[in-house]
Amino acid sequence: MGRELRLGVNIDHVATVRNARGGQHPDPVRAATLALDAGADGITVHLREDRRHIRDEDLNALMPLCRERQAHLNLEMAMTDDMLAIARHHRPPAVCVVPEKREERTTEGGLDLMQHQDRLRPFIQACQDFGARVSLFIEPDTRQVDMAKTLGADVIELHTGAYCLAADKTDLLSALQTSAKLADRLGLEVHAGHGLDYQTVGPVAAIPEVVELNIGHFLIGEAIFTGLPEAIAKMRQQMQASRS
Ligand code: PXP
Repeated sequence: MGRELRLGVNIDHVATVRNARGGQHPDPVRAATLALDAGADGITVHLREDRRHIRDEDLNALMPLCRERQAHLNLEMAMTDDMLAIARHHRPPAVCVVPEKREERTTEGGLDLMQHQDRLRPFIQACQDFGARVSLFIEPDTRQVDMAKTLGADVIELHTGAYCLAADKTDLLSALQTSAKLADRLGLEVHAGHGLDYQTVGPVAAIPEVVELNIGHFLIGEAIFTGLPEAIAKMRQQMQASRS
């Protein structure tokens, strides 16, 4: 019997559509409710410094919803004092530290743990002190995995963006498999995400050490055509089929 594979649904882009016009519609909290009803195990949001999608008031509403539904809220955030204060206030059960550049369209690469190790170590500890399990969003690179362990992280999330975009995926899939295996051996929990869709999810879901996938943009886009429950159900089917 393999390990269970969870699906975290990232609802940021419901907020992106709302923000394009201002106002309240479409409401990311309603999307989170629908996603949980449709079988998502958790909700992921990235509160960016520029608040281009999820905003503080969304987080205010999402935290009690997830608590009530006993679902995981995974807060992606940059390593800043402001974000730490917000996270400390809300105490999400899971935090994923991501690199953040204002000018990027989306999170373009993983964190360079070697470069930021001095700041990361106390940041991870500070998040663990309010009870969060801390994940570091990294490229599938064994040096980064080793450093995640050294820095005291609980979890790594492997960036699947390059794998999803590559025409020949062989080497990048192999890097994801190798990193996942090493992390598991070191006692780190392994998540993966970024850019996954119905086509690319299978081989990542098949990596036995990966226990959580965080998927957003494709699901929200697909929901325009089929509705969110159907998009989530189909994604789960693809995940399950590859897992077994
Ligand atoms: N995981 C992390 C750490 C991310 O930053 C993102 C994008 O916000 C995702 C997963 C989801 O990526 P996508 O929206 O491309 O599915």
